[in-house]
Amino acid sequence: QRKPILVMGIFALDLAFRTHKLPAWGETVVGSSLATAPGGKGTNQAIAAARLGAETYFLSKIGMDAFGHIAEAAYREAGVRTDFLRRDPHAATGAAAILLDDASGENAIVVSPGSASALTTAEIDAAHEAIARSACFLTQCELPLPLVRHALGLARSLGVPTVLNPAPAVAGAESLLPLCDFVTPNEHEAQALTGLPVSTLAEAEAAADVLLARGARHAILTLGARGAYVKSATLKQHIPAFDAGPVVDTTGAGDAFNAGFAAALAEGMGVIRAARFGCAVAGIAVTRPGTSPSMPRRHEVEALLARHA
Ligand code: RIB
Ligand code: NA
Repeated sequence: QRKPILVMGIFALDLAFRTHKLPAWGETVVGSSLATAPGGKGTNQAIAAARLGAETYFLSKIGMDAFGHIAEAAYREAGVRTDFLRRDPHAATGAAAILLDDASGENAIVVSPGSASALTTAEIDAAHEAIARSACFLTQCELPLPLVRHALGLARSLGVPTVLNPAPAVAGAESLLPLCDFVTPNEHEAQALTGLPVSTLAEAEAAADVLLARGARHAILTLGARGAYVKSATLKQHIPAFDAGPVVDTTGAGDAFNAGFAAALAEGMGVIRAARFGCAVAGIAVTRPGTSPSMPRRHEVEALLARHA
């Protein structure tokens, strides 16, 4: 019987504004469109994993406000298990302002985790039986680092493989590396973690070596249009990206990759195959607007993989 995945992270209601320019401080810009959808890296990852067929638990804390209701509806619709989703009557649910450039599609994000930051170590500990039963524990750096450290340490102590998506890049994240079976930075985060530039495959390998030397068991760098790079003591592999059509919005591409990777691990796939699966999930997500709404279903990923077999 297949084991579940436990994802810890935040909910943020994504407010995605398309704009012809970034406002400067003190300036107002009239946007060209607005889309709202469930977001937050952990939420996107949990929803994507559930759509891929993984039994997925989400550990977090939402507020009892309008955005919190949207969060609950999103988990229900995707089939994400909310046994460890706490509600805080005193804190506002998180939100993210996402600015998307009309011409290039590039994004700039301010995310406010809100109620999720009020999660406590005791509430994490309360999920320990579910964590112990999981195929892997997946989290990010949108929650306060002490909570991330505590949860990774707990999963480790229970013998459960840990996947850290060190996003966004935050100060101090390198101290988490010894707790990571898998660390999955993008180029920017890998550079922040190692101090090394990551713009070529050779540089990705050098950065991966530093991540391994600092305690991660596998370094998996996501490289956008160049796919992913996997390195461990025994593995070393570049995985090209999948072309599933024109790229319209890369927001949440990392979430798609991490969900696919974790779901594949839970099915017993090896690290390279799981990373390839993650690349396929991300390859589809970037062809659609938005974050969680763009996460593909299982059959779509299978079809893409079959075309590239
Ligand atoms: O990875 C994309 C996510 O980052 C968005 O959904 C936004 O909420 C921010 O947390
Ligand atoms: Na997308």
